[in-house]
Amino acid sequence: MKKTIDPWNIGGFENYQMLLDEFGMESMEKFRVRYDELRYIRRGIIFGHRDFGNISDSIENKKPFALMTGLMPSGKFHFGHKMVADEIIWFQNKGAEVFVCAADVESYLMRDVSFEKAREIAVKEYLENYLALGLSPKNITFWFQRDYLPKYYRLRDMAAKRVTFNELKAIYGELTPGKITSVLTQVADIIHPQLPELGGARPVVVPVGADQDPHIRLTRDIASRLNAGRQGGKRDLECVPPAATYHKFMEGLQGGKMSSSDPKSFIALSDDPREASKKIMRAKTGGRPTVEEQKRKGGVPEECMIYSMYLYHLIDDDIALSDIYHECRNGTLLCGEDKKNCAELVEKFLVKHQKKKAMAAEIAAKLVSR
Ligand code: TRP
Repeated sequence: MKKTIDPWNIGGFENYQMLLDEFGMESMEKFRVRYDELRYIRRGIIFGHRDFGNISDSIENKKPFALMTGLMPSGKFHFGHKMVADEIIWFQNKGAEVFVCAADVESYLMRDVSFEKAREIAVKEYLENYLALGLSPKNITFWFQRDYLPKYYRLRDMAAKRVTFNELKAIYGELTPGKITSVLTQVADIIHPQLPELGGARPVVVPVGADQDPHIRLTRDIASRLNAGRQGGKRDLECVPPAATYHKFMEGLQGGKMSSSDPKSFIALSDDPREASKKIMRAKTGGRPTVEEQKRKGGVPEECMIYSMYLYHLIDDDIALSDIYHECRNGTLLCGEDKKNCAELVEKFLVKHQKKKAMAAEIAAKLVSR
């Protein structure tokens, strides 16, 4: 059977290489040194891309480009989501005009979240955290899928006309009416910064988790068709197929999936700092069954959730990180001490962050009301 990727049910994603080998994604390796200032690129966490060359060209030559991303408002904003926020902010600092949409249609159809609840989560959990992490409210458009009226739906209709049922089946496997609507809405989300009234054709980058690749592939195909027009006719919309960057997923604190529906699997940025520190003390590590064995054989940072918190978020200095790695490997750093160190970092981070978040509430409210 042909392989498909199910964007609503992640978890089977150990094999990032498959995406490069079988789905035509390109490796990020070539850009790693050029953009090593972004931790996720430097450390290979952003491992793949499509057409990132276009974006790099815009950055280097100061040409206009945009970033588009959507958030599915279905639960707490946790450290997995922080990664996307950091990426958005980095691209914004590189000159991107930012478009963020709250996928309330998708959360309603696919996760059974009411529109009222979705609105609250999108603002209180996502937008406020984005701002607190450093997103500038200038040069950004934020909207809800449900609110974005005529031109947006026109675009969704245009997308619907440019894809067949069999193509959707080949990409997504099993289909339902709700899935089809979510998918076409997301295509419209991604293409719409290129509508003439919003800035016209230009490179757009979509930073996403690897599970979102089916949507990106579909959107790129549809964008090319809209741009080419029908045979002999004029084009539907002048646009550039959107570029994407793909990151790996953080595992949950207990190993396995990090999931919004299981609070033990993540630390939310709104968690009480003391509670968060307790979650760290209970996290899965790469330690051995006994201290004696660990001193002898060393730990396995690759399997340690504490290490992954450092790698993704808490320790930016590569040398400090590598010191910890080696001390763990050679058995001098034991899990108890390591967890305590990590818990302190998390606690400090959260205390500071939550102050910033409180200050961001007003700006967030303004952004959604305009
Ligand atoms: N489907 C995305 C998710 O599950 C949310 C989303 C909606 C999105 N529209 C988008 C992501 C456009 C990127 C671009 O998180």
